[in-house]
Amino acid sequence: MIGHDIQEAADKLRQGLTVGIPTETVYGLAANALNESAVVSIFKIKDRPFFDPLIIHVKDLETAKRYVRSFPPKALLLAEKFWPGPLTLLLPKESIIPDIVTSGSDLVAIRVPSHPLTLSLLELLDFPLAAPSANPFGYISPTQAEHVEKQLGDKVSYILDGGSSLIGLESTIVNCSEDGLSIVRLGGLSVDEIEKVIGTKLEKQLTQNSNPLSPGQLDKHYSPKSKFVLSENISESILKYRDKKIAILTFGEEHYDRGIYELNLSKTGDLEEAARNLFHYMRLLDIYAPDIIISKKVSPHGLGLAINDRLVRASSQ
Ligand code: TXA
Ligand code: MG
Repeated sequence: MIGHDIQEAADKLRQGLTVGIPTETVYGLAANALNESAVVSIFKIKDRPFFDPLIIHVKDLETAKRYVRSFPPKALLLAEKFWPGPLTLLLPKESIIPDIVTSGSDLVAIRVPSHPLTLSLLELLDFPLAAPSANPFGYISPTQAEHVEKQLGDKVSYILDGGSSLIGLESTIVNCSEDGLSIVRLGGLSVDEIEKVIGTKLEKQLTQNSNPLSPGQLDKHYSPKSKFVLSENISESILKYRDKKIAILTFGEEHYDRGIYELNLSKTGDLEEAARNLFHYMRLLDIYAPDIIISKKVSPHGLGLAINDRLVRASSQ
């Protein structure tokens, strides 16, 4: 059931059930992070492998400190600057966080989401929420309550409706080890903004195979059901696939017409608008069920890097 009742959502979570929650990045499938069997049900509902760890969500920095053993100064700087917001930090976990949440790792991924409904919900709870994106494993992340209902509706006890996600891309993940910070996943907070605060360039460890530091970084991810191709030249690709039912996902001033179903991430070339539209448009294109979706990378700076990362993953076989 979809609704706006945070009391009801809190009750379900206290009972060890799962609830769909809105965040500024994407919707999450939440459960009590300290309750192992509640956490197991997240993996089951998503059909997610147990080697892919979960992010825990807390209401503020003070609460976050309870669940980590140390908070390196640079990590603290980032948390103070960007929380609540689309930034996840990997920090040494306290033993109260069950191993199943971190897939056995000594590090826990933690963030303070900035959606007002979810922050109010977290205020009501005396435990953190483990929440991956609320989509079946490997499929596109949801940015509206209806997306969650459509895909997981009968499996979750309640979906808290907070409207469309303002950012539309998952959080940026920063690994904060004693010997320095590195970017593990590109996301809704651009690397430039992080580097501005830290004052140095950060290493990227954007691992793409099946057993990296951040195992969710599997190549095939965020995928629509239709075949998805990235093209350098959309006109040429249209010709190449002219016998097929085509749909196009563009960006900026490009426009193809020719009776082809086309969605434009941002006609004005605004990367924030493109991020907000990306997953919703992928879903719309998928509903149209073309043989092939042809798309092109966006400008490779700021949020464009994270958008391109998702486009590349969607297109990988
Ligand atoms: O914006 C977001 O981060 C959303 C909202 C709901 O908060 N959540 C999200 O969760 O995108 P999920 O599960 O779809 O992606 C989390 C990824 C994992 O796939 C993994 O790559 C990384 O975070 N991760 C989580 N815990 C980790 C850990 N202990 N060590 C390394 N990577 C971890
Ligand atoms: Mg996900």
